[in-house]
Amino acid sequence: MLFMADNLENYGDNFQQKSKYVRDKLPRHILNWAKKPKTYKVYSDTIKKIKLPEPKFNPSIEFWNVIKNRHSSRKFTPEPLSFMELSLLLYGMSGINRIFPQFAFRTVPSAGGLYPTETYPVINNVTGLEKGLYHYDIQNHSLNVLKEGDFRRKVAEGCLDQNIAFTSAINFLWTAMIGRSQWKYLQRCYRYIYLDAGHIGQNFYLIAEALGLGACTIGAIYDDELNQFLEIDGKTETVIYIGVTGKKK
Ligand SMILES: Cc1cc2nc3c(=O)[nH]c(=O)nc-3n(C[C@H](O)[C@H](O)[C@H](O)COP(=O)(O)O)c2cc1C
Repeated sequence: MLFMADNLENYGDNFQQKSKYVRDKLPRHILNWAKKPKTYKVYSDTIKKIKLPEPKFNPSIEFWNVIKNRHSSRKFTPEPLSFMELSLLLYGMSGINRIFPQFAFRTVPSAGGLYPTETYPVINNVTGLEKGLYHYDIQNHSLNVLKEGDFRRKVAEGCLDQNIAFTSAINFLWTAMIGRSQWKYLQRCYRYIYLDAGHIGQNFYLIAEALGLGACTIGAIYDDELNQFLEIDGKTETVIYIGVTGKKK
């Protein structure tokens, strides 16, 4: 793979050094609670909303077998996934698992409980669902239908033409709402955004393994091609990571 010279600048090294916390030199800023960004992205003008089934957990799954066997799969059969499998994946990757009076916590940890990640499932092959681009409404464990159509090629192209995003039954596109974390962590927020996404990615792998599905995460993306597809600006919200899944071949 060829990288042009402007990709060889050391902005990554600079970021790592500049975003370090140093004793007695912590960035001083007062949290502006009046300007705290909203925790949930709300789509009010969707084609339709679809309620996901309550997740049904199979109690016979052995936790340590799941850990032991987790791996990336890149070969999928053309069999569809079920609506329940989609529901379990979404719940386990970002669902609300406990509510204290003012605050809804989730199945994944997040720095400061700020939850900057949004999930956009691209449905290629799920029984009972049209192919298309969806958004996960976390609060209501529902799907917002954003665009109907076959987007397998579009997403695979955005993943540096990786065919696994074409043959998969579902592609989860994870974006970061930068301001949600930056409100508190300023420039250091990027560290936490990526760490948060890693937690989601690991739950994704483990749930897929528990369900007997194949899964692979993808970090190699043409960011702005996918941002355009999602109709997001790539600055306040930007794609950061992708998970593809399907029945294992
Ligand atoms: C941050 C991250 C980015 C990745 N990006 C890709 C990718 O673009 N394409 C791909 O085929 N696999 C990708 N992978 C999967 C890794 O190649 C895989 O996890 C690694 O080879 C170890 O194999 P295992 O997951 O089967 O244990 C990625 C994994 C991570 C954690």
